[in-house]
Amino acid sequence: MERKQPVAIIGAMEMEIEALLGAMEEEESRVVAGLVFHRGKISGVDCVVARCGAGKVNAAVCAQTMVCLYDPRLLINLGVAGGVDVEIGGLVVAQSCVQYDFDTTAVDPTPRGTILLAQPDGTDKEVLYFPCDERVGDILAQEAQRIYGGVVRGVVATGDRFMADKDWSRRLGEEYGARAIEMEGGSVAQVCCMNQIPCAVLRAISDNANGDATVDFPTFARSSSEKSAKLLEQALPLL
Ligand code: ADE
Repeated sequence: MERKQPVAIIGAMEMEIEALLGAMEEEESRVVAGLVFHRGKISGVDCVVARCGAGKVNAAVCAQTMVCLYDPRLLINLGVAGGVDVEIGGLVVAQSCVQYDFDTTAVDPTPRGTILLAQPDGTDKEVLYFPCDERVGDILAQEAQRIYGGVVRGVVATGDRFMADKDWSRRLGEEYGARAIEMEGGSVAQVCCMNQIPCAVLRAISDNANGDATVDFPTFARSSSEKSAKLLEQALPLL
């Protein structure tokens, strides 16, 4: 029997995918570029799950490998994030993602975070906000509301930095409308945009990306990781 196109799921840390792997009826796994790709069913849905490691390059390698190997119908990045005016334990479903640390402002007039995507005709396409799929985002938000009684929809800001600075995180809120700050979502969203695959980014808040984050993150990362994974497990049959 031919297998369906799977839902591809990426978390940076083991604790972010642990609950999903626990719920998976695994059929096979393979290792590419040192990353382990687990293929099987979660809540009856064909999925492939991998841990990419922290940061944009790790996430991009993982996402593009999934696209090439598994032809997924949807790519989801889940896990924890620093919240901007979102309490610890709160859930954020991205409407779009921005890579706030991409900066060519010294030589061109585009706003910080604008990525140039090389086009086949030799031109570049400028993208500041990489979009997330509205239908999938609506479903994740509805389930978050139903199960946990609350959700925030907004921009997720991604950069290669653990953010523990209240002035910076406030600035990301003001400049981009960021509600969550993390290290992979914008990269996964870029890979999805380049491959024209629907994308979703789901984050549970583990800290507030401020001076307390160095203590809050190790304290709450596990419980928030489980929260985002459990939500996705429940929502998968609806996606
Ligand atoms: N993931 C969870 N909290 C984070 C933070 N404060 N900065 C970057 N990534 C995070």
